[in-house]
Amino acid sequence: MALHQGFLVFLAFGLVVFAQTQFQRVFEKPKPVGATFHHPIQRVAVVGAGPAGLQAAAKLIEHNFAVRLFERAPHPGGNWLYSEDTPVRESYPDKPTGFTDQIPAQLPIARYYSEGDDGLTLNYRWTKHWRPRPVWYNLFTNSPKVSTELPDVPYDPETPWVLSHHTIQRHVRSYATHHCLNSNDHCPATPAAPRVASYSTRVEKVERDEETHTWVLTLRRLEGLRESNRIREEWWTETFDAVVLASGPYTSAHVPEIEGIVDWSKAKDGEQYSVYHSQAYRHPERYAGKTVLIVGASVSASEIARDISPFVHRIIASVRVSLPPRLRSLSRFPNITEFVPEIASFGPLKTHADGIRNGRIHLKNGSILQGIDEIILATGYRSYALYPPNTTTRRPENISWTGHYIPDPTLAFTIGRPWTIGRYQSYGLAKVWEGSAPLPPPEQLPEEPNPGTGMWFPEALFRRYVTWLNDASLEHGGRFVEPPPVENIELLKYYTVVHFLNNTMKLDGVGLDSVSMFSGKLEVEDPWDALVDEDSDW
Ligand SMILES: Cc1cc2nc3c(=O)[nH]c(=O)nc-3n(C[C@H](O)[C@H](O)[C@H](O)COP(=O)(O)OP(=O)(O)OC[C@H]3O[C@@H](n4cnc5c(N)ncnc54)[C@H](O)[C@@H]3O)c2cc1C
Ligand SMILES: NC(=O)c1ccc[n+]([C@@H]2O[C@H](COP(=O)([O-])OP(=O)(O)OC[C@H]3O[C@@H](n4cnc5c(N)ncnc54)[C@H](OP(=O)(O)O)[C@@H]3O)[C@@H](O)[C@H]2O)c1
Ligand SMILES: *[C@@H]1O[C@H](CO)[C@@H](O)[C@H](O)[C@H]1NC(C)=O
Ligand SMILES: *[C@@H]1O[C@H](CO)[C@@H](O)[C@H](O)[C@H]1NC(C)=O
Ligand SMILES: *[C@@H]1O[C@H](CO)[C@@H](O)[C@H](O)[C@H]1NC(C)=O
Ligand SMILES: *[C@@H]1O[C@H](CO)[C@@H](O)[C@H](O)[C@H]1NC(C)=O
Ligand SMILES: *[C@@H]1O[C@H](CO)[C@@H](O)[C@H](O)[C@H]1NC(C)=O
Repeated sequence: MALHQGFLVFLAFGLVVFAQTQFQRVFEKPKPVGATFHHPIQRVAVVGAGPAGLQAAAKLIEHNFAVRLFERAPHPGGNWLYSEDTPVRESYPDKPTGFTDQIPAQLPIARYYSEGDDGLTLNYRWTKHWRPRPVWYNLFTNSPKVSTELPDVPYDPETPWVLSHHTIQRHVRSYATHHCLNSNDHCPATPAAPRVASYSTRVEKVERDEETHTWVLTLRRLEGLRESNRIREEWWTETFDAVVLASGPYTSAHVPEIEGIVDWSKAKDGEQYSVYHSQAYRHPERYAGKTVLIVGASVSASEIARDISPFVHRIIASVRVSLPPRLRSLSRFPNITEFVPEIASFGPLKTHADGIRNGRIHLKNGSILQGIDEIILATGYRSYALYPPNTTTRRPENISWTGHYIPDPTLAFTIGRPWTIGRYQSYGLAKVWEGSAPLPPPEQLPEEPNPGTGMWFPEALFRRYVTWLNDASLEHGGRFVEPPPVENIELLKYYTVVHFLNNTMKLDGVGLDSVSMFSGKLEVEDPWDALVDEDSDW
């Protein structure tokens, strides 16, 4: 009897132990795997409160990291934070990206500026600090709703497929609010704890402390003091175990190197310059009755041309024919567009006080263009990475497909389109740093050096993420993830195919020999591939 009882107790005990082991396996924080960091990762900085950074911050908070989110703009939204303010005028000639301001020798420090100090206006200081976004009032997405959506805050089903940027701005801010990351949130609620989000705060420098194996961020925050009409500038540093760089694809405007452009950039018609970059474009009314030359053949060029076309006298587009040609954008130019070849040089101007109407533009085919009132340089953007120093691309080459910086995986870069890949990447960053997922082995590096540059078929990246994350959860605990719904991918393809075909058909009238061979016929195997290739940094 006693033996029998003892056996039952033993059995029950065994079951409890077994169940506990199973339970632990699924629910308990696992032992660190794969990457061994010098110390456990607790404090994580996220740079940028756009669609990518907000998702990273939200996921890392959910996984109990002590997160700080730094954003140079006064509110969340990233590229989608619309403003009537325009960025500081681009430099002529083009200038390499990067921060040039001197960091004060002693930190922390606070300084105050009044209007006109050092010859600078307060408005200049403020817009230079946060850099108003290159989004105009009537901008709509060139990506369909299904692939321009953040988790947790679904669009109303009535929302159209093509979204106004006003809708996206609300959407991204709702996401920030949902995760207590908005500019007026104080999270966590304990007053003693530092706020998670620090807006109007530009990360000036990211440095590695080799001794403590930590990251030191140099930070600068600007605050407008209304009563005294001054700006307060505060500099300080904070130290972190890990950093996510989600600072977005576009750091500054690119001005093409064309002979004479610096001279022309000085010309003014009244108060306004006659030449400027598309980053400053906001409203079409300014162009009423004018002859406008648009330089470039990509999305900004075609969409601004469409926006101004009901107002203008003439639209002329100077197109540099590249391979593959930018079929989609070329076909979206309004039918009044007159296409001309690339510009060879801008002839000298007699005065800078009378606009550019009398100036002569030499085209590469030998013809001369005259009588232009305004030039919009839709010539794209430059990128810049905060680390390693002097990286003039969006990301260094040395990152894995999960975004980890290979020489030191306590640093990560956001990859791919944040709307679609962001939710998987954020979870992956949290898992690797908490120790519930191994770093992907180096042999899994993508064939392409960086996902998100060059041709990258997104489905392959989705599958890779789903497999890697779920394998890790099975082994070390954590939630399982699902691939994006099949219907989303189908919708995306449908959208792309229909738009692409519709637009390609219309190419006949474009008047460019080198693209007319494509007209009416799809020369690529998969139109989505072509779209992705055209627009790899979405
Ligand atoms: C005119 C235009 C139209 C576009 N249209 C579409 C579209 O239709 N569909 C689409 O999918 N994509 C579009 N895009 C691409 C757009 O970049 C992405 O939709 C998306 O915003 C990228 O998200 P992100 O978080 O990676 O970067 P961003 O949205 O650019 O956010 C990055 C954030 O980091 C902040 N930051 C940068 N450096 C620092 C620093 N040193 N310190 C502190 N903060 C910093 C920036 O202020 C910014 O808020 C468009 C881009 C442009 C320019
Ligand atoms: N939702 C929207 O409607 C919308 C609107 C605007 C922008 N965007 C997004 O924003 C991003 C940037 O787009 P973008 O159009 O501003 O920039 P972009 O795609 O980089 O295009 C720049 C254009 O300028 C041309 N160019 C550069 N230097 C030139 C020169 N010296 N002479 C002639 N042409 C020159 C390029 O020619 P090549 O073709 O030879 O490179 C290209 O056509 C893209 O991701 C785009 O999808 C979206
Ligand atoms: C050009 O487009 C406008 C507006 O879409 C349209 O009304 C007009 O008929 C078109 N003209 C030609 C010649 O196709
Ligand atoms: C140059 O291109 C323009 C616009 O396409 C055209 O009108 C002009 O005839 C061309 N000039 C020469 C010399 O081919
Ligand atoms: C970055 O470039 C600047 C200017 O070219 C140079 O002075 C500086 O030393 C460089 N920094 C590093 C770390 O290479
Ligand atoms: C990539 O990292 C390795 C060391 O991990 C280094 O040897 C190499 O120079 C790095 N390449 C770049 C482009 O930074
Ligand atoms: C494509 O073109 C057809 C015919 O002109 C039109 O009926 C359809 O609405 C267009 N589709 C899209 C998505 O623009």
